[in-house]
Amino acid sequence: MSGKLYIVGEYQVLSPKGAGILYAIDRYVYFKIEDSLNFSYITRNEKINFSYDNEKLSFAKDDYQLTNGAIKTVFNYLKYKNIKVTPFLLTINNDLENNQNQKYGFGSSSAVISGVIKIILLKFLKNVSDELIFKLAVLTQIHLNQLSSGGDLASTIYGGIIYYQRYNLKNILNKKDDISIVDQKWADFKVKKIDSKIKFSAIWTKKSYKTKSLTKKISEKEIKHARKIVDKTYLNLKNNEFLALKKRILKYQFWLDNILEKDFLITPEIKLALSIVKKYNLVAKISGAGGGDCLILLSPKNYGFEKIKKELEENNLELIFLWGKFMINTNRKDEHIKYALEEEDKSNDFDNINLEHDNLSCLNFSEIDLSTEFLGQKIKYPIYINAMTGGSENGKNINAKLAKYASKFEIPLVLGSQSAGLKDKALENTYKIVRKNNPNGFIVSNLSANASVNDVDLAVKMIKANAISIHLNMIQEIMMAEGDRNFSNWIENITKILKNVKIPLLIKEVGFGMSRKTLIKLKEIGIKYVDTSGKGGTNFSKIERKRKNSDDLTFENLGISTVESLKNAEGLNLKIYASGGIRNALDVFKALYLGADAVGLSKFFLNLSQKSDEEAFLKIEELISNLKKCFLIFGFKNIKALRK
Ligand code: FNR
Repeated sequence: MSGKLYIVGEYQVLSPKGAGILYAIDRYVYFKIEDSLNFSYITRNEKINFSYDNEKLSFAKDDYQLTNGAIKTVFNYLKYKNIKVTPFLLTINNDLENNQNQKYGFGSSSAVISGVIKIILLKFLKNVSDELIFKLAVLTQIHLNQLSSGGDLASTIYGGIIYYQRYNLKNILNKKDDISIVDQKWADFKVKKIDSKIKFSAIWTKKSYKTKSLTKKISEKEIKHARKIVDKTYLNLKNNEFLALKKRILKYQFWLDNILEKDFLITPEIKLALSIVKKYNLVAKISGAGGGDCLILLSPKNYGFEKIKKELEENNLELIFLWGKFMINTNRKDEHIKYALEEEDKSNDFDNINLEHDNLSCLNFSEIDLSTEFLGQKIKYPIYINAMTGGSENGKNINAKLAKYASKFEIPLVLGSQSAGLKDKALENTYKIVRKNNPNGFIVSNLSANASVNDVDLAVKMIKANAISIHLNMIQEIMMAEGDRNFSNWIENITKILKNVKIPLLIKEVGFGMSRKTLIKLKEIGIKYVDTSGKGGTNFSKIERKRKNSDDLTFENLGISTVESLKNAEGLNLKIYASGGIRNALDVFKALYLGADAVGLSKFFLNLSQKSDEEAFLKIEELISNLKKCFLIFGFKNIKALRK
């Protein structure tokens, strides 16, 4: 869950029907949940056990009230819904505090409460709405005696820039012990997402002042005035009116100065930061009621922050981030990326294949034709970007880059598993970015073999996919502490999907390869397209072992290599695509030689996504050019010639 800053309305929002505009920032609290034998959570490197006997919760320690409180509320809700909870281990990592557990004042408490509620709900429920999380979080705050305006909760839960109008407080306080109110409509409560191109950043004063001691009562007249500002700011943001917004924020800060200064509510650090901002002709305002320990800073597009950042640092102030962004981090996906990137390319089965070149192939480099067919679509080069990511901020950035490569070189792109996007609507944009950056490209959706026909339909619609891929990741699931253990419905499921989809269906592995047995079973149910995704590259046994922090190497070398998988497919008359351990053009060529019609690369493109676009483009050009060289060296003019 991300933190928050107020753009306007921090005082307004405290009044009945009050409203404010908030910005979720790219500092996070991370949550992970996995099955376990006992109930426990880990926070600040401490493990806290708790028990849930006869529907009674008791915690080994009371130190972490927010976490305990959120667990109580969500368990109460699940009980009311007759949902059985099973033991889990919940891990919380807080980016909203620095190393000394000092809060940045970005709404760390609300992120903890909302995150704990959300991750537990996601574990036990299929559909979890932002509104449900919000209402449970409000009840938690009430029971902890820590009620806020709710703006902080809405910001972290809904994300991005939001217009928030407070719910009718009296109504809710009257019914605070009746959990069923979360299923009812809350009077006055409104959240509107604002899709604005205007960007903000923040300056942190490193001094956290207690909110209450500095919070000021604002008069009726001032509240009315503030409401007007909130409504006008909403329009400025919505219509991307940068200059009008700049003026408005300047005026607002002036107004705030006036009402706060009288009571000495502006801290010396804030004053210093404001004076520096003014020097650079930028506009900033205090964020949050109660003096605030940070400023929200408005700056033009592509502003160079080097100078102001340096000056702020010289004055012991911190420009913490440049562009605020919202994203909930689902963690597992980012850990896959992290551990996959750590792996060096190693020797694999392709190294044992020695092809003989032909000095008299009598070919002309410029006449080599690499075109082929992939899932019924004619493509220029026999390569595609294979499934990887989505569902997190990092995943979104990587997807944005992959889509750029796919668009520039007109190569197909298989998206990472969209299941997180189906569970949580807020994550959809981490996938949709591939269509945005590659509007006319050939894009393949991706889900697990557990997906229902409806899931497939939604995933395809989400990115206007041209085809769908289903991954058979049984071994990976088994290696995962939190993974599935029941695969009994897979064949039945795939058969149903095949019957119902109107676009090509590809079945793929995730790096453990395809046995002859599996391929025959797929053939028997009518599958036409298979991606071997064999052993030799990304190794999910190893990645999941690292995630578990385990030293158990039992399954580290499990799998069928891509070369063996291709041999397993011989004579079955399937359209076979190869992936798994493809490091360079020579590997691509060897896979084509062994019968693949196109070749997928994941790790190769993941590595590129860590470079600048220019460098990545050069590397892809090099791959294509080297592949042409292979065709020339081994004496084949095109892919058809390879099949003769
Ligand atoms: C993957 N892979 C994968 N496959 C899939 O079908 N759905 C997914 O969500 C993911 N996620 C994922 C994340 C990361 C970080 C990596 C590196 C890979 C598996 C991928 O598509 C491919 O089958 C294997 O990675 C083997 O290919 P490479 O990496 O050896 O080229």
